[in-house]
Amino acid sequence: MKAKITLSKEFKIGQIDERIYGSFIEHLGRAVYGGIYEPDHPLADEDGFRTDVIELVKELNVPVVRYPGGNFVSGYNWEDGVGPVEKRPARLDLAWGTTEPNCFGTNEFMKWCKKADTQCMMAVNLGTRGAEEARNLVEYTNHKGGSAWSDMRISHGYKDPWGVKLWCLGNEMDGRWQMGAKTATEYGRVAYEASKLMKWTDDSIETVLCGSSSRNSKTFGEWEATSLDIAYDSIDYVSLHQYYGNQKNDTESFLAQTLELEEFIHTVLCVCDYIKAKKRSKKTINLSFDEWNVWYHSNNAPYEKWSLASARLEDIYNFEDALVVSSMMITLLRHCDRIKIACLAQLVNVIAPIFTQTGGGIFKQTIYYPFEHMSNYGRGEALNPIISCPKYDCKEFTDVPYLEAISTFDEEKEEMTVFCVNKSLDDEAVLDISLLDLDGYRPLEFISMDGCGAKEENYFNASSVKPHTNELPTADNGNFTALLKPFSWNVIRFKKI
Ligand code: AHR
Repeated sequence: MKAKITLSKEFKIGQIDERIYGSFIEHLGRAVYGGIYEPDHPLADEDGFRTDVIELVKELNVPVVRYPGGNFVSGYNWEDGVGPVEKRPARLDLAWGTTEPNCFGTNEFMKWCKKADTQCMMAVNLGTRGAEEARNLVEYTNHKGGSAWSDMRISHGYKDPWGVKLWCLGNEMDGRWQMGAKTATEYGRVAYEASKLMKWTDDSIETVLCGSSSRNSKTFGEWEATSLDIAYDSIDYVSLHQYYGNQKNDTESFLAQTLELEEFIHTVLCVCDYIKAKKRSKKTINLSFDEWNVWYHSNNAPYEKWSLASARLEDIYNFEDALVVSSMMITLLRHCDRIKIACLAQLVNVIAPIFTQTGGGIFKQTIYYPFEHMSNYGRGEALNPIISCPKYDCKEFTDVPYLEAISTFDEEKEEMTVFCVNKSLDDEAVLDISLLDLDGYRPLEFISMDGCGAKEENYFNASSVKPHTNELPTADNGNFTALLKPFSWNVIRFKKI
């Protein structure tokens, strides 16, 4: 197949907010216990954090991590997780049917963030609790001292405030599986009040209103319109959540789901802007896509009820999943003018790019690599490439472009990168890259993932699904030609010479 990408510095979508490369740690399964925190592990540091995990998180270059949930947060008493560990209560977590020992809580997570070079995106419980407990937590984490909750933090050994800037107002409050689920009107009111009090406590914070738990939610659209109408003046972002799976084993349709994702984002933006117009407001609400990934492999895995940190949602990802994750990330970047935050859900063990064995080793899942590439090379501005390529029809979609692509431009580093998925199962793409005005830019590196079976997975000491470098694209008068293997992930890096 022949394909062409035309690029110019002028084809700007917007500045990429680094928080679009965020992730998520929930008190769920082995994400915390046996994931980021395992005091008995030979590689644990003095705080009980696994240093092998921290190393990989740093390599992924994740600027923000959402915590502590997820469904978990809707029943969480944050006070249970602070103060002397021996006094902390074990609680039944009704979200996941497990026992939460509370050995790890807010201060431990904030410490971990510092060590992992990341920021915390904190969620408050608006399921079983409300504005009061939420604003107390802001006071505990962010106030310098001289008040009951900030002095309590100091008495717990943390003199300096943590300065958490980004806050989620609950989680998936439209879902019947959520503790304290609400109607859109009920939620709009509590979110408005919680956000108001939280910002009165610290006016430097930003807050995220829960949108629908997915595009398939019955109340999708109406939920956003109603809750936003109520909470508009008090909040900054609306959240989106979406997971995809290949339950029908139809790879072409699985890869095409970014068309649906595109529509999902577009609809939420339309609702935000409709409410803006209705209110004659000057304020624009942007998006926080704070849960996204492939998730379906582990759904029926058994576990022991009320057990502590048992394996849950441990999807082992294959190569086609990595291509879907790549395509989803490209779609998010295409909207970086409005998507300011996004969280790959999750980070360690639970539907995650990093996988550990409790007491043992660690490996990089297939989805680790495209995230690493985009997070490291996809900084600066996003450019909208004009793509010309053939399209395909499949069971669930028509007119699916074989190529999914985006480009990013880092003016300071004088680097430009083209990220591209070739979704064709059989055909190589001869890709012509035409740079209209990026004079002096030459190919620096061409990384790809290809030649793997769609269902090929990585595991401990058996990681065959990984990137490799290729011969650089050939040059001809400002045009470059790259060969993209069938069914492949491609990163073509250019630098001004
Ligand atoms: O990420 C796993 C779960 O998916 C989260 O707890 C919840 O918010 C979503 O339904």
